[in-house]
Amino acid sequence: MYYPLVRKALFQLDAERAHELTLQQLQRITGTPLLHLIRQTVPFRPVNCMGLTFKNPLGLAAGLDKNGECIDALGALGFGFIEVGTVTPRPQAGNDKPRMFRVLEAEGIINRMGFNNLGVDRLVENVKKSHFDGVLGINIGKNKDTPVEQGKEDYLICMEKIYPYAGYIAINISSPNTPDLRTLQYGEALDDLLQAIKEMQKNLAARHHKYVPLAVKIAPDLSEEELSQIADSLVRHNIEGVIATNTTLDRSLVAGLKHADEAGGLSGRPVQLRSTEIIRRLSQELQGRLPIIGVGGIDSLVSAREKLAAGASLIQVYSGFIYKGPPLVREIVRHI
Ligand SMILES: Cc1cc2nc3c(=O)[nH]c(=O)nc-3n(C[C@H](O)[C@H](O)[C@H](O)COP(=O)(O)O)c2cc1C
Repeated sequence: MYYPLVRKALFQLDAERAHELTLQQLQRITGTPLLHLIRQTVPFRPVNCMGLTFKNPLGLAAGLDKNGECIDALGALGFGFIEVGTVTPRPQAGNDKPRMFRVLEAEGIINRMGFNNLGVDRLVENVKKSHFDGVLGINIGKNKDTPVEQGKEDYLICMEKIYPYAGYIAINISSPNTPDLRTLQYGEALDDLLQAIKEMQKNLAARHHKYVPLAVKIAPDLSEEELSQIADSLVRHNIEGVIATNTTLDRSLVAGLKHADEAGGLSGRPVQLRSTEIIRRLSQELQGRLPIIGVGGIDSLVSAREKLAAGASLIQVYSGFIYKGPPLVREIVRHI
């Protein structure tokens, strides 16, 4: 009811400032009775996926709560799962500001944050303090100053630290804002990474007596052949899930609009069809051998259903949540 007013106020501010302010407020009410003011009651719509039970199929996508500072407050809104991160081994500042832009007319966002985060140790501290009763995904990446050839090590460092606290681990190899990161999606580099993380998963499972599934997050900017090679690698290495998709570099649907030429990844409504198409093709390739978490431009019940119809088992929102607010979560979970 109040979101249109809140949004009006927030949209007067620079996009990143609005983001920071909102997270600060959410953090402030965590652990206080005020949390009940934002709580939304949604029906129980369980989904079994990657060996886990999700209380409903709608999750919050990575990048909104990079440091896991607002897990309980975001959880109170009714999400079945929350993906925090992307986190890197060491803290890093990210790219220079401004680095987040609204493409208002298209209900899109362009960002080139560059994995600004407080480092994996801080994230773990925050996760330990949280009480979210849904599934917590932790999304990991590599530091900007780690050469891509050694990127694998950064994923392994993060895995080891987060493993006891994660419901699932998301391997982000698809952000367009860390130089060369997307090259890890191809050929030998991908096989090498997947082999290493599976080996680490095996060791950690034995050490902690707990099996934490791995999901790889991919870009929407992939040719048919690239997609089919990625699907083949994921199956060969027994990866438990795939998250499709991250933001796009393509600007064709926002050409001429304000901020359309800013560098970075584009999300929200302009990536909706492209993500759905990737999910559809991936689903044909995978034939149910591993589940797809569908993300990209979901901003309504209908666009959520389109992702599921294309083959996703679970879905996530980010930009749609910025434009539509908490009522979007209620609408989708109630009727899905
Ligand atoms: C400001 C911003 C920051 C993001 N940061 C991350 C990130 O750190 N890691 C990641 O895997 N995805 C990140 N994403 C991508 C989202 O998780 C999602 O995959 C993408 O935005 C498409 O979904 P949407 O259209 O619902 O926003 C970010 C997106 C936005 C808009």
